[in-house]
This record gives sequence, C-alpha cells and structure tokens, in this order.
Amino acid sequence: MKPIKKITVCGGGNGAQTLVPVAAQAMDCPVDIFAPFGDEALRLQGEIELSGAVTARAQARRTSADPAQVIPGSDVVVLVLPAFAHESTLRLIAPFLDQGALLGAIPARGGFDYCAVQALADQGRGDLTLFGLQTLPWACRIRQYGRSVKVLGVKKAVDAASRPASRIGQIAPVLTRMLGMAVEPASSFLALSLANTGQLIHPGIMYGHFSEWDGLPLAQIPLFYHGLSNKGASALAKLDAEVQSIRSRLDSELEMTAVRPLRDWLIHSYGSAIADPSTLHSAFVTNRAYAGLEAPMRQIGPGEFVPDFSARYLSEDVPFGLAVSRAIAHMAGLETPSMDLVINWAGVQLNKDYIKRDASETRVPQNYQLDTLDRLMDFSTER
Ligand code: NAI
Repeated sequence: MKPIKKITVCGGGNGAQTLVPVAAQAMDCPVDIFAPFGDEALRLQGEIELSGAVTARAQARRTSADPAQVIPGSDVVVLVLPAFAHESTLRLIAPFLDQGALLGAIPARGGFDYCAVQALADQGRGDLTLFGLQTLPWACRIRQYGRSVKVLGVKKAVDAASRPASRIGQIAPVLTRMLGMAVEPASSFLALSLANTGQLIHPGIMYGHFSEWDGLPLAQIPLFYHGLSNKGASALAKLDAEVQSIRSRLDSELEMTAVRPLRDWLIHSYGSAIADPSTLHSAFVTNRAYAGLEAPMRQIGPGEFVPDFSARYLSEDVPFGLAVSRAIAHMAGLETPSMDLVINWAGVQLNKDYIKRDASETRVPQNYQLDTLDRLMDFSTER
C-alpha cells in the first residue's frame, strides 16, 4: 500500500463531520472536504469538535464545492453520504481522481459496487480500487453545523469489502488505523450488500411502529429502538431469516461469514453495551448505544406528532437496501414474502412501487445489466 498523504471526505452531514476529525487525528495527514451540496462548503470552514463516545477536534485543511480543488492528490477518497447521493457525487469526482487512489463509501449500503463501477466506467475510470463499510461506525448527530458533533455510540468492529475483492486484506488495516476501530475483511461487496443490517433494522422497525397506525397524531415521539415491540421484533426476525436463506443459498459459491444473523451482528457490533443479549427483542431494547434515539416524526401541532415516512429509514434503506437483497434472492430462486410486505408497505407511504414501476430508482443489480445470478456472481468475483 502507498503511504496515505492526503484524505478527502465527500459530504457535509453527521457522518462526514465525524470522520474529518477522527481521520485527521489518526492519520496525521491533511484531510480535505468535498461538499457540493447547497452552501455547505462555506459553512464547513472551521474546526469541528466531537464529543460523547468519541472525542477529537480538527479543521479540514481545505473545503470546497469544486472537485478540482480537493480531489486531485488524494490517496483516499471517502463518500460519507446517504446512498441516494453516491452516484451524482461519483460522477462529479471521477475525472479528478488520481490513479491508484482508494475510493470508498462509509457506509456502502446495497449495490454500491454496481453503481460505482458504472459511474466510473462511463468516465473511463475503471482502474480504481473501491472499498465499502457495512455500516457507519458511529451513531452521531450534528449539534452545531460545522462546529460540533455529538457521537452517541460507537461500534466495536465493522466489516469492509473491496473491489477487487482480493485487496481487502491490504485495505482493512488502513481503514482500521483511519477509524481507530477494528475493520474486518468481508469476502466481497456481494456479501457486504447482504450484510447491510440497516436494510432490516430501519424499515423493519418503522413497519413495527407504524404499520397499524390509525392516522391520528401521537402525543409522544416513540423511542425508535428502545420502543421496539415484540411484534416489531418478530417482523425483524422474519426479514433476517430471508437474508439468512440467501446466505445459505450462495454460501457454496462465495464466502459469506460477514452476513451475520441480526442478533449476532448486534452482539458483535455493540458487545457489552447490550445488557441482555438473550433475544433479538432484548438485544435492541437493552442496547445502551440506542438509548434515547427517537422515531422520525413531524410535529403538526402542540403535542401532536405524525410519522415522517420520508425519513431515510424508508427512503434510503428500502431502495438502496432491502430492494437490493430482495432482487438477489429472486435471482437465486428464493421467495421473500416478508421483504415484499415491508417494501410494499414502505412504497405505499412514499408513493413508490419499488418492486415494479419504480424499480429503476433502486440499486437492484438488474439496473446495471447484472440480470442473472451467474452474471452477478461473475461480477462479484472479478479480479
Ligand atoms: P446526513 O443526513 O447527515 O447527510 C446529509 C448530507 O448528505 C448533507 O449534509 C449533504 O452533504 C449530503 N447530501 C444530501 N443530499 C444530497 C444530494 N442530493 N446531493 C449531494 N449531497 C447530498 O447523513 P449521515 O447521518 O451523515 O449518514 C450518512 C450515511 O450513514 C447514511 O447512509 C446513513 O443512513 C448512515 N448512518 C448514519 C448514522 C448516524 O448516526 N448518523 C448511523 C448509521 C448509519
């Protein structure tokens, strides 16, 4: 691996503002920010301070909305963005990336590799090495834009994949150093797409909280994780079982240990922060890292709240998560009644039909000419 002399973080949200001080302190090299969205580049010029589960402070060396100012010379370029912003950002930065740069997404969500390969190939940049993380290492929220971020929780370990898949053994130690936490190699981006637990947790818990909502305003905002009901936990368990069936179906063709059952993943990621890991339900409601996190709601009057279905728990995690795994399952000849139920329910809330009419708005492999299991497996194991 080349020594890392400069890193660029793409994005200006919670995760991007957390990564900048973490990476600057850990890597002792300049960290720049590419922030083309709105006026964020102007608002990200000062020192950012992290408090809570991680403490650090640093200022980006340079922040710009112009990729020509910050992308050239970067050894590592990291997208820390909601998945719907990946493609447009990749297209903006592709012409300016150095040969040999590492380009990745934290988190990758489902199908990042299909989208990145296509966006880069369209601009003649098929030479780049990609990486992705299974999740964001932190639960974090901006307190004051461009100045202060509260890190509510930090995971013990996170899995990462690369393309070519064989390079992850070299890349994972660099990411471990950059993030100050264990980054463990996954066999491929295909395993990482299936291992994306956000695709289960976020839509599954939304379904648990609101599938029987009667449309009347609620007097209180439910706790998203600690308010999980047994019914919600059972919906999660069914989604989880469908992902595990895909894992079992593909296990003989590709190493899939990163695709952990959900309770195992919670224990692996949060360890002793979970007081009672004995069931899926208890692992959520006794996880200290989830304390106080609320369901996405809109206030419509004094003491009157309604669910915010446009929040990324549905608008990101269904088209860039659950829909991708469902598509892989169907290519593998598996039925997914629970995924279908949750995807269709989310679609009704968002006025989308992610399985048929609006499938082009998702990152299913079929949208990238990967329309048979053989093609998908060949793509996922390409050297
Ligand atoms: P965020 O909601 O704070 O990110 C918003 C940022 O994304 C904006 O500030 C802007 O820089 C960029 N952006 C938004 N729309 C854009 C567009 N149309 N074009 C270009 N850029 C655009 O997101 P956050 O919280 O940083 O999350 C990043 C990723 O990490 C998401 O996939 C999220 O689901 C995931 N994640 C976040 C966690 C958290 O605690 N913040 C926890 C676990 C996962």
